[in-house]
Parts: sequence; structure tokens; C-alpha cells
Amino acid sequence: MTTSQVKFIKNSQIHKWKTSCSADELTAVKNCAVASRKIKMIYKSGFASFVALKGIDLNIPQGAIQLLMGPSGSGKTTLLSILAGILTPTDGSVHLLGKDITRMSSKELSKFRLENIGFIFQGFNLFPALTAAENIEVALNLKGIRGKQARQESLELLTKVGLDNKADRLPRNLSGGQKQRIAIARALAGHPQLIMADEPTAALDSQNGQLIIELLCDLAKQKETTVVIVTHDVRIKSFADYVTHMEDGLITDHPV
Ligand SMILES: Nc1ncnc2c1ncn2[C@@H]1O[C@H](COP(=O)(O)OP(=O)(O)O)[C@@H](O)[C@H]1O
Ligand SMILES: [Mg+2]
Repeated sequence: MTTSQVKFIKNSQIHKWKTSCSADELTAVKNCAVASRKIKMIYKSGFASFVALKGIDLNIPQGAIQLLMGPSGSGKTTLLSILAGILTPTDGSVHLLGKDITRMSSKELSKFRLENIGFIFQGFNLFPALTAAENIEVALNLKGIRGKQARQESLELLTKVGLDNKADRLPRNLSGGQKQRIAIARALAGHPQLIMADEPTAALDSQNGQLIIELLCDLAKQKETTVVIVTHDVRIKSFADYVTHMEDGLITDHPV
């Protein structure tokens, strides 16, 4: 069966995973920036269920650039969304910066995400009616940075991504590469310790894609930010500290 084929199984066949953890294991988990244990994700629709993740264990040290690669449908976006606390796994645990986010209340999790995670989406996700600077200011406002300070920090971030001269442009008047630079600047707003990016180069040509990843990795390394990037793009491998391959909801030893 290929990964693109949909597999349906009955609810009664779903094996409930048990998460057990020794003291040594717990220490290992707490020392990683990102650690997942036995992550399982089942999407349910009526009586049918689809197992998208079948038990993912991942350790990402602080400051590392980690790539998640694999064919379409292998579960990369699902895993990244769970690691970023956007989706709740059916089973298993995720520790970020030593804290078990799978045990947090939704209020605690929202606060944790706001303070610690910057997310970069495939389609940029910029507000179309806001200028480049305002798109970043909105993110800063959410983190409690307002007014002149937000303006100044947004201009500093735009300078870092080489777009200080485009501060007052609307997204529709910027190229794809420029929009993704703004998305990077926005993800870096407030200096989160973790950056998660889902196919950040998918909408860009290969040269722009490489430049964007180089920029993201450079900026991340300056602050020892941990970065998790989902990508199809094999050229990005050279920027990574770790590359993990996924297939059919599992981590595979061999590249696919
Ligand atoms: N909300 C959902 N409901 C049901 N199935 C889903 C949902 N989201 C993703 N899937 C399925 O889970 C599998 C993994 O999807 P995804 O994580 O998006 O993979 P990838 O990012 O590697 O392409 C796919 O077969 C996809 O169709
Ligand atoms: Mg995806």
C-alpha cells in the first residue's frame, strides 16, 4: 500500500498505546528542546478512522536545525502541528523546553506557544490589508510589545531579513521570496526559542528557497534557536544538523 492510499480501520482495531517513562528517559526528554514519545494520531470521521502517526519518538537538542522529510501524506504536517501544540495527539507526549505540553490546559498551552514558538506556514499567511511592518507588529502586539517599541522592533526584524526598505508595502506588492522573508521576521518576533516551519520553500523557486532557508538557519544559529523544518527539498539538507525521514506515519531509517 502506498502512503497516498487512504487506509480505514475499525475503532475496535485501534490499539491503545501506553506511555511509560523511566527516570533516565525523563531526564533525556527534559534535556531536549523538543522530545516526543510514542506520538500517535488518529483522524476520525464517523465510524472510520485513519492512523496518520503510528508512534513517533523524536529528540531534538537545543539550537539544532532539524529537517522532517518524506513523501506527501507521510504525516509530516500532522507531526509538526502536534510538536507545535496546534494539534493534540491521540496518544503520546510532547516535551518542549522541558515542559510536557500534552498535559497543559488550553490556556497554558496558548501562553506557552505565544512565548516560545514561531511558526512559518507554506502559504506565508500574511494579513493582506496590513503592510510588511504591520504584519510583524501584530505578532509583537500579541506578545505584549506595543506602540513605538513594536514599530522599532518590527523595523529591526525587517532589517535582519533585508527588507527594511519594504516596511510600508502591502503583501500583494511583494514577491514570494519577500513575503516569506516577512513570515520569517514575524516568526522571529519576540525571540522564540523554537521555530517550526511547514514547507517554507514550497511556494518559491529553488534559488529563492535556498536563500530563505540559509537566512532562517543563520538567524536561528545566532540565538541558538531550535528549528524544525518540514520539507521536500533535498537541497536544504546541507543546512541541517539532523534529517529525519518519515513514511506512512513512522520514522524510517532509510531515506525514501
Ligand atoms: N484533518 C484530517 N482528517 C483526516 N485525515 C487527515 C487530516 N489531516 C491529514 N490527514 C491524513 O493524514 C495523512 C498525513 O497527512 P499530513 O500530515 O498532511 O502529511 P504530509 O504533511 O506528510 O503530506 C494523510 O493521509 C492525510 O490525508
Ligand atoms: Mg504537509
